[in-house]
Amino acid sequence: MTNETPNLNSDIPQTARIWNYWLGGKDNFAVDRQVGDDILKVIPNMALFARATRQFLQRAVHHLAADLGVRQFLDIGTGLPTADNTHQVAQRAAPSARVVYVDNDPLVLVHARALLDSSPEGATAYLEADLRDPEKILAGAAETLDFEEPIALLLMGILGHITDDDEARSLVRRLTDALPSGSHLVLYDATNVVDPASAEAIEIWNRSAEPPYILRSPQQLEGFFEGLELLPPGVVSCPLWRPAPTDIGEAVEIDEFGGVARKP
Ligand SMILES: C[S@@+](CC[C@H](N)C(=O)[O-])C[C@H]1O[C@@H](n2cnc3c(N)ncnc32)[C@H](O)[C@@H]1O
Repeated sequence: MTNETPNLNSDIPQTARIWNYWLGGKDNFAVDRQVGDDILKVIPNMALFARATRQFLQRAVHHLAADLGVRQFLDIGTGLPTADNTHQVAQRAAPSARVVYVDNDPLVLVHARALLDSSPEGATAYLEADLRDPEKILAGAAETLDFEEPIALLLMGILGHITDDDEARSLVRRLTDALPSGSHLVLYDATNVVDPASAEAIEIWNRSAEPPYILRSPQQLEGFFEGLELLPPGVVSCPLWRPAPTDIGEAVEIDEFGGVARKP
């Protein structure tokens, strides 16, 4: 990849690309790898943690599609395409699943084709939009999703970028208000309760990368689910959310917490 496309902000490290670097992808620039490496010096397992959040996404989406019959997904802050994107997980369990992806990073748009290889029975769509404009997201999503039927809203690793608590809560509320009963909210974000190095890592991030990110406590994350019914085990460290059996060892707590809740 070259650094020549000006509207990609290739000289300023960007969240989608740093995340892609930790996930082992190739869609990132030297500046992104530099911040990624600086953070790996203080949190050597950061790349594993990023993968653990993707595994949380996979388990949550599989549960919703396979066990709870959810057939529609709205994934805001999608990130660069990787292995097992939301539609691949959902459509493996339910080929008719419909998925709308939303991100505001222009590089995600460049690579969005990889998100659009829907099963013939289902559908996928990509919308370039900002979480701060929920009305645009809802109007665009309504072209693919039926808002009379349950929808799972995914806010995976994005709310930390809305650093003002009131604004973040209001955005979640405006989106969940638009969903019918039986819909779900799935979210995870980085926290500040397991490893003191998390605070140092976020300082590096906010000195170098865009957009800024704030760590929240698990209790604050739980606050985003207000008015919804949390599914067991509640808001927990991502590897502990209904962990799959492992051959060796046990799931451990990391500073990435998430949960899934149902709208009554
Ligand atoms: C840390 S990455 C997480 C990617 C993916 N959801 C995952 O969990 O693997 C955060 C993503 O949110 C997107 N993002 C950040 N702020 C956003 C905003 N205000 N509106 C839309 N997307 C945003 C970034 O471009 C990036 O792709």
